[in-house]
Amino acid sequence: MIKINEHYTEIGNNYLFAEIAKRVRDYKEIYPDKAVISLGIGDVTQAIVPVVIEAIHKATDEMANARTMRGYAPYEGYDFLVNAILKNDFLDRGISLEADEIFVSDGAKSDTGNIGDILSSNNRIAITDPAYPVYVDTNQMAGRIIELLPCTPANHFVPAFPEKIADVIYLCYPNNPTGTVLTKEQLEKWVDYALEHQSLILFDAAYEAYISQPDIPHSIYEIEGAKKTAIEFRSFSKTAGFTGMRAGYTVVPKELTAQTSKGEILSLNALWRRRQSTKFNGTAYIVQRGAEATYTQEGQKQIREVIAYYMENARIIQNGLENLGLTTYGGKNAPYIWVKTPHNLSSWEFFDLLLHKTQIVGTPGSGFGQAGEGFFRFTAFGNRENTLEAVERMKTL
Ligand code: MLT
Repeated sequence: MIKINEHYTEIGNNYLFAEIAKRVRDYKEIYPDKAVISLGIGDVTQAIVPVVIEAIHKATDEMANARTMRGYAPYEGYDFLVNAILKNDFLDRGISLEADEIFVSDGAKSDTGNIGDILSSNNRIAITDPAYPVYVDTNQMAGRIIELLPCTPANHFVPAFPEKIADVIYLCYPNNPTGTVLTKEQLEKWVDYALEHQSLILFDAAYEAYISQPDIPHSIYEIEGAKKTAIEFRSFSKTAGFTGMRAGYTVVPKELTAQTSKGEILSLNALWRRRQSTKFNGTAYIVQRGAEATYTQEGQKQIREVIAYYMENARIIQNGLENLGLTTYGGKNAPYIWVKTPHNLSSWEFFDLLLHKTQIVGTPGSGFGQAGEGFFRFTAFGNRENTLEAVERMKTL
């Protein structure tokens, strides 16, 4: 008889956003005429910018010609994209990295989920709570021991160090789901902790393009010593509207090492390369050309305009909620607004109330972890019309 991975029995039947989609489908079946507005999953709504579309068209035409077509992409990404990433995201910002420390992928979700492949299931894991569900789910799938680090208004959403020393620590800043950030000094303390305890920080910077304050780090490598202790994940999804196109990258510095049970020291960069070349066949050429175009001067201008559009939505939602007397967090350096539910409703009670009374979909905070209970997340990724309409409808609550 086939044996399953028993750990899957511990993680619930549905991934958070699959569960929400199911509940919304069920609602629409009963009320097909109701106009539902989704401010739930952080999925983009604005067109991919013209510079990127032009690059994709051009790359598609190359595929139509045997002389210029491309087959399998390099496992780590084409040089043209790796070099554009290296220059624009790191070297030009004063961070020294090398091209072979960058691994282009199909997005940060896959990479944050897959990174566990190269790490022992005996590692102790620390994860901020609430958190993007992929971190907890994938570590539970592997049977690792997890310590949650609550992030609530009581600690200003700054996680305390774990009670027991953690081997691996997940940090996501700007944070999904709370929209909060860590200052450079606060992040420095985590890098120091990791250096002292020889821990690995998995730093998810998928939302760095939304940072508006000058003192907030865009990359963990802005902190001295971080190359010895951190892997960083980046995404084109929220930066350039690639949620459906799929592109991101992961930085695994060559200075990063870990040990075998026999005490042998190995390079995580080499292990990740081995993992990716075995299990991943590269991001599509066409998509990589699109990602490359985001780094041109015109590309930067165009994607910044879309980001500003979403951040105006964030402002509208946050103001709307505050005007209703609700307490909100985030929304300034991230496209998420985290709100305390009214009347001490549970997160799912508020979800049901919003859906049934106003046909608005958000994400229950408890879906991101127990410290998210009593909170709710709205995304700024809707279109303007729906965002304004949602704020109007909420006045009827
Ligand atoms: C979210 O809503 O948290 C994100 O869109 C999910 C994701 O990036 O996979």
